[in-house]
Formats: sequence, structure tokens, C-alpha cells
Amino acid sequence: MSNKLFNHLFNNPVRLLAPMEGLTDPLMRQILTQIAADLGRPYDWSVSEFIRVTQTVLPAHVFYKYVPELHHNAKTASGTPIHIQLLGSEAQLMAENAAFACALGAPAIDINFGCPAKTVNSHRGGSVLLDEPEVMFKIISAVRKAVPSDTPVSAKIRLGYTDTSRMDDIRGAIAASGADWLTIHARTKTQGYKPPAYWEKIQGFNSLDIPVIANGEIWNSEQAQLCIRQSGTKHLMLGRGAVTRPDLIAQVDTADFPEDESLKKSVLLWQDLIAHQIKFLQGEAKNDVVLVGRYKQWLGMLTKGYPEAQNLWNEIKREKDKAAIITALQASS
Ligand SMILES: Cc1cc2nc3c(=O)[nH]c(=O)nc-3n(C[C@H](O)[C@H](O)[C@H](O)COP(=O)(O)O)c2cc1C
Repeated sequence: MSNKLFNHLFNNPVRLLAPMEGLTDPLMRQILTQIAADLGRPYDWSVSEFIRVTQTVLPAHVFYKYVPELHHNAKTASGTPIHIQLLGSEAQLMAENAAFACALGAPAIDINFGCPAKTVNSHRGGSVLLDEPEVMFKIISAVRKAVPSDTPVSAKIRLGYTDTSRMDDIRGAIAASGADWLTIHARTKTQGYKPPAYWEKIQGFNSLDIPVIANGEIWNSEQAQLCIRQSGTKHLMLGRGAVTRPDLIAQVDTADFPEDESLKKSVLLWQDLIAHQIKFLQGEAKNDVVLVGRYKQWLGMLTKGYPEAQNLWNEIKREKDKAAIITALQASS
């Protein structure tokens, strides 16, 4: 059972940046957590992309590659802590990797039970384990026992694998496991990433004596407020919406007070986002081809949040040269 040692972290509603493999990598985390801090509403923490545990205790360089923030007290430059997410099915091996991650400075361990990828699921990792709550229990409790008692261990789940019929068993496994909190992406694996998200189903987990964080399909402040009402929890994790509108986090918390001056301050205009995009393009990556590809992925998402992004997208979609993209970006204000 939970020792409630970490419930004080949830005295105020938490706002988290979701782990998204290939999207919220260290560079994107750096940018998004900086924007949030500049807007006066820093993320409480973010979670790394999943690190897959298969046969060994991974060498230190793997952890540093996924979480270079470990070199800086496990925080981004703006001071946002990064928790380490592990994905795997062997309880003992997960526990050993978690203990090693903590020795390297991980402030918390999160365990992935939501990944829908075929390769991952065929090796009994990620969301497929939602059909095996007893394995979930073994993994979480082994990790809980292996890491220092002052390091939180959390789980991130979906509502089920193909359907929601195992929800009670999943809740029971989480309750018995000693997990310190639970994040719920309010869809089954089969429902993928398509709207809607079933926020009301999260209520089924609110009887747990640990904090519950709601996640899925929050793209604007109205949806955030609706999610809070329907899920019955005030704690949110923002995913793709936070990449599409990097100011979403600040708007969620000002939505109740639209006449408030702070609402204006919570909006990040396109012209102010340009410098951040340039920083992204100047960030570290394997090479410029990778960086330009990743930037285009972001710009494609920004077209859903900013009309200016659509014009820029039309202009640079075939451009491969990083310097030319930066010039076009500077001219787009
Ligand atoms: C490209 C992509 C990669 C993801 N990678 C991870 C991951 O590594 N670990 C994880 O727990 N969830 C991962 N997710 C799921 C997100 O954390 C989140 O639960 C999901 O996107 C729902 O939130 P949203 O609708 O606000 O995007 C990923 C999602 C996307 C779109």
C-alpha cells in the first residue's frame, strides 16, 4: 500500500509535460519547459521518453542519452525535474534498472503500461500488460522495493488493452503495488490516439488512496476544465496539445478568470515563439537532417495552434537547408 510520503507534491494541482517518444526528447523538453517557466507557470515535472528494459541492466550512457538532464541534477535549464520512465516486463530486471537510474540521479521512476507499439507489445511490454494486472503488480512492487524510500515510483496506464473490462483488476494491482501515484491516459490501447478521450472513466480510479493524474486529448483550456470536472481529479498531464500550443499550461490555470490580466500574459504569440523555434533548430542533434526533420514535425503540429505556422509550412515544406529555414522563420513575424 502507498505510504503517502509524496502526497504533499499534490497539495496544489500538478501540471505535467507528457513523455512522448521522438517528440518530447531532451531538446523539446528544454524548449517547452522554458516557455512554461517564462509564462509564470512552470511544469511541476516531466517524464522521459520510455527506456526499454529487455535483458540487462542498461549501461549509464543509455540513461544519459535519454536523460542528459541527469548531468544537471535531473532538471532542465528552467529547473523542471525529469522523471525516468522504464518499460519492460521482467520485474527483477526492471527493479535493477530502476535502482541504477536512481544511483545516477533519477528523482523518480515512472513505469510505462500504455505504449501501444507492436514491437514493444509483442515482447510483453507497455499496454499489453494491462491484460496481466498480476504482472503489473509484480513490476511496480519490485521497483518500489528496489529504489530508495524517498524516491517516488509511479505508473502510467491506459484504461485497458482492447477494452475496459479489466479496470477493477488494474486498480487492485495498483493499490496493492505501493505505487505513489498513477497517470491515466483515458483511452484503451485499441482506441489509440483518436478522440475522444473518456475522462469520466478515470473516476473509477479515484477511490485509490494515491493521487491520480488525468491525461488525453487536452488541446485547450476548455477541454482541460472539462477533463478536470469529468475525471474528478485536478491533476493533469498535457501531451500533444502542449507541443501544438506551448502556452497551453499557462492558459489552463487562467481559464477560470478570463477578465484577469494574467490571461494576456499567459498567451505566447507567434512572434515570441520564433526565437524558441530558432533555438530548437540550433539545438543538439545527430545531424542537421535529423534536426530539420524534427523541426518540420513540430511545425506541422504548430499549424493546428497558430495560423502563421501554416504560411511558414507552405513556404518551407520542401526546404532541407537549416539556415534557409531559420531565415524564413525570422521573416515570418
Ligand atoms: C509520438 C508519441 C510518443 C509517445 N511516447 C510515449 C512514451 O514514451 N511514454 C508514455 O508513457 N507515453 C507516450 N505517449 C503517450 C503520451 O504520453 C500521452 O499519454 C498521449 O499522447 C495522450 O495525451 P494527448 O492526447 O494529450 O497527446 C506518446 C504519445 C505520442 C503521440
